[in-house]
Formats: sequence, C-alpha cells, structure tokens
Amino acid sequence: MPRALITGITGQDGLYLAEFLLGQGYDVHGLLRGQNNPKRDLVEELLPEVTLHNGDLTDMSSLIRALRECDPAEVYNLGAVSFVAYSWENAALTTDVTGKGVLNMLEAVRLHAGDDPSSVRFYQASSSEMFGKVQEVPQRETTLLWPRSPYGVAKVFGHYMTINYRESYGMHASSGILFNHESPRRGQEFVTRKISQAVARIHLGLQDHVTLGNLDAERDWGFAGDYVEAMWLMLQQDVADDYVVATGETHSVREFVQAAFAHVGIDGWERHVRYDERFMRPAEVDQLVGDASKAHRQLGWKPKVGFAELVAMMVDTDIDAFRTGW
Ligand code: NAP
Ligand code: GDD
Repeated sequence: MPRALITGITGQDGLYLAEFLLGQGYDVHGLLRGQNNPKRDLVEELLPEVTLHNGDLTDMSSLIRALRECDPAEVYNLGAVSFVAYSWENAALTTDVTGKGVLNMLEAVRLHAGDDPSSVRFYQASSSEMFGKVQEVPQRETTLLWPRSPYGVAKVFGHYMTINYRESYGMHASSGILFNHESPRRGQEFVTRKISQAVARIHLGLQDHVTLGNLDAERDWGFAGDYVEAMWLMLQQDVADDYVVATGETHSVREFVQAAFAHVGIDGWERHVRYDERFMRPAEVDQLVGDASKAHRQLGWKPKVGFAELVAMMVDTDIDAFRTGW
C-alpha cells in the first residue's frame, strides 16, 4: 500500500486529496498544526482512516519527526497561509509559512530520503497568483511571473525552491501551478463561497444583501475535486516537472454573482449586492486564464466540472446546509 503525507490536510484541497488517495488504496497521513486544532474533529469524522501527525511548516524539526513517523513515498505540500487579502496584513507570517515553509519541507524530505533523494516524491502547491500582473494571455508554464501580493511573492519563492531542489539534488519534486478551484468546502473568506453562502441565505429569506469589493476581477475557476487528481498524476510520472492546471475559461466576479442569483431564480441581483472599499486590495490581479495543454497532453488530465455546474453545486450545498441548520 503506497503511503502519502499531506500538509494542509484540514484545508479544502487536503480533504479532497485525502479522499482521492484513500480511493486509490493509499495509506494517508496528514500534518496537523496547533495545540488544539479545531479542525481535527472534522478530519477524524470525515476521514477516520487518516493518521494525523503534529507539525508546523515553520518548524523544520517537527516536519522531520512527522516524516520519520510515517515514512511516506509521496509528500503533498498543500499547507499555506492561502488568503491573498490577509497576506498584506501579515506579510511576514505569510512569507514564513507559504514561502519558507516550502524550503523547510523540501529540506526535511531531502534529509529523510538520505542517499536517494528521488525516493520520496514531492508535490508543491504553486499558484496562478504568481502570474499577478499577467505578462501573457493565457498563462502557461513559461509565462514570466509577476506576483502582486505578499502571498504571490511567497509562492514564487516556494515554486523556484522546488525547481532548485529538483535540479540541485535530483529530487522528484513537481509544482502544480493551479488556477482558482472551488467547492462547497471552500473557506468562507474566498469570494465564491462568500457569494454562494449569501445567495443561499437570501434565497431562504435569512439575509438581504451581500457586500463585496471588485466585481470586475476575472478568474479561471474550476472544481477542487478535479484538481487534486492532477496533483496525484504529477507524482506518477517518471520525471518530475511543472504543470499549469486550469479550465481555460475566465469569468468575472460579477458573472459568478449573476449565475448564483440566477440559479435560485432571483432577478435583479443588483438590489442584493453592496460595495465596500474594505474588500478592495492594494494591488489587484485583474484577469487570470490558464493554458493547461501540457497537463492535458502529458498527464491526460482534463477538468470535468464546468462553471455553471460549480456555481450550482456550491449554492445548492449551502441552501441544504442552512435549511438543516448545519
Ligand atoms: P486552505 O483551505 O486555506 O488550506 C490551507 C491549509 O494550510 C490548512 O490545512 C491550514 O491548516 C494549513 N496551514 C496553515 N498554516 C500552516 C502552518 N504553519 N503549518 C502547517 N499547515 C498550515 O487552502 P486550499 O484552498 O486547500 O489550498 C491548498 C494549497 O493550494 C495552498 O497552499 C494554497 O495556497 C494553494 N493553492 C490554492 C488554490 C485554490 O484556488 N484553492 C489555487 C492555487 C494554489 P489550519 O486548518 O490549521 O489552518
Ligand atoms: N475574498 C474576496 N472577498 N474577494 C473579493 C471580494 C470579497 O468580498 N469582492 C471581490 N473580490 C475579488 C478579489 O479582489 C479577487 O480579485 C477575486 O475576487 C478572487 O478573490 P479570492 O476568492 O479571495 O481568491 P484569490 O484569487 O485572491 O486567491 C485564490 O486563488 C489563488 C489562485 O489564483 C486563493 O485560493 C489563493 O490561495 C490561490 O493561490
């Protein structure tokens, strides 16, 4: 039975990836941070087969200990401070976790792997946020990176460190440059979930409006459940590499709002949307759209869930949750 260690197991992608790997017959282990992490119960209830290890990406000795405890064949580094807006308020923390945390994990894996650094395969969760002020449309693996947030800068550091460990030590280290991917498990701070929850509550008469920032920003939104499969496929290749994972379609935040209200049959969505400058960012990423042809060609990966289906899935799940008082 192959064994995998996932950092960020309590997050959206960690949960989907753990489910996917269990389905593939893996023995799945996860890194859990904090002395009393409130999400431990969620993981234990949803995925009782998963073994949890204490550790923090900012503490390399805890990573080495976790690796010794589970001795994995594959490591998926998904842990990060991942909310872009928060990264301006906590730039140093974001740098430590999202940037330097990658170096800590790579070094811990290298030390653990000993004489054969390629014996432990490594996945790094890179991001389309690295393209920032985009220098090419659509963005591909070779597009010049121009990050626009402390989060984006930290991800660029982690991305190049992953490539450097591959080139310096022959590690089987791959980076997935994933474009935005969403689901009913998306954190409430991200715009899609904020919208799907608000629309569900407005539909049920529990709320009147939602307050947002920039409606013009455009994102290439896919379904998280599809994207974790691409992570796994990268680690099944003979040679490690970097891949863009995206749908190739872009939609504005306004279009997401329109689609969510239309799904519950509300016309005149403008009545229910207010603007607050608080949700604007010091520097915005205006438009992201990815070219995933390398992943199509080399991994045989393609997204299955489209934009309209994704919006409907998120709104319907939130309606059910609010109805049942969850
Ligand atoms: P998420 O839901 O915000 O999950 C982040 C995870 O990182 C959580 O499990 C969190 O644990 C963990 N974490 C935070 N600080 C940590 C630390 N100091 N040590 C160890 N773990 C720590 O993010 P996601 O959407 O699943 O994304 C997964 C990864 O993909 C992230 O690296 C993100 O930056 C990247 N990414 C995401 C997208 C996307 O659209 N979702 C796109 C591109 C790249 P707690 O629960 O304890 O806070
Ligand atoms: N969060 C949020 N809240 N965003 C808003 C709001 C609001 O009220 N109003 C407008 N937006 C706009 C943001 O300005 C941004 O342009 C867009 O909605 C998407 O914001 P988020 O959902 O917070 O995601 P993100 O694109 O900044 O970052 C996500 O995707 C990256 C990949 O491109 C995160 O998952 C990152 O971790 C990930 O790397």
